[in-house]
Amino acid sequence: MSLSRSVSFTQTAILNASIATICGLGIDLVYVPRITALLSRKPVYLAKFTRRILHDAEYNRAASMIESRERHDLFIARCWSIKEALFKSLDKSRQSCFQMREWNTIDPGSSKPTVSCEAISKDEDFFVSVTHDGEYLLAAVIRGQSKNSSQ
Ligand SMILES: CC(C)(COP(=O)(O)OP(=O)(O)OC[C@H]1O[C@@H](n2cnc3c(N)ncnc32)[C@H](O)[C@@H]1OP(=O)(O)O)[C@@H](O)C(=O)NCCC(=O)NCCS
Repeated sequence: MSLSRSVSFTQTAILNASIATICGLGIDLVYVPRITALLSRKPVYLAKFTRRILHDAEYNRAASMIESRERHDLFIARCWSIKEALFKSLDKSRQSCFQMREWNTIDPGSSKPTVSCEAISKDEDFFVSVTHDGEYLLAAVIRGQSKNSSQ
């Protein structure tokens, strides 16, 4: 076997082992002042709204941002946008039982957006990207499945 052929086999094996099949794609655009307005309603409403959409870790982060007067509206808009994009990336059966608060978009070790949930299988990978400019924030989510998965 020539050296170039053996390199090519090795490369293929590495690619097969590490590349997931793309199973879903979702994108969402949020007009941040819409979220800011929602959050400026009565405190009871604010608590109900945030409890419905935020994971416990996100809720705690938002609470500490409110306390330190940081832009919690931007943070919540980001959580919302990622989860809407995530929802669109899921198949119908998972969409039907989708609960925003079950998903966490915070990775404690990094500022890179992520999604995690207890119900994610080990063969599943989510790739998240967020951008914002002025009053608009956009999130995109790719859902991938390992090639050796039976699903
Ligand atoms: C379906 C949903 C994601 C649409 O979001 P939206 O902000 O109303 O609208 P967007 O402009 O972002 O997206 C609309 C597009 O999403 C796509 N879309 C609609 N239903 C979809 C679905 N079930 N899966 C993937 N994409 C979908 C369509 O292409 C649609 O475009 P169209 O109106 O031209 O056909 C949203 O209404 C929803 O149901 N979200 C569920 C998540 C959730 O729990 N939200 C509320 C929690 S409090």
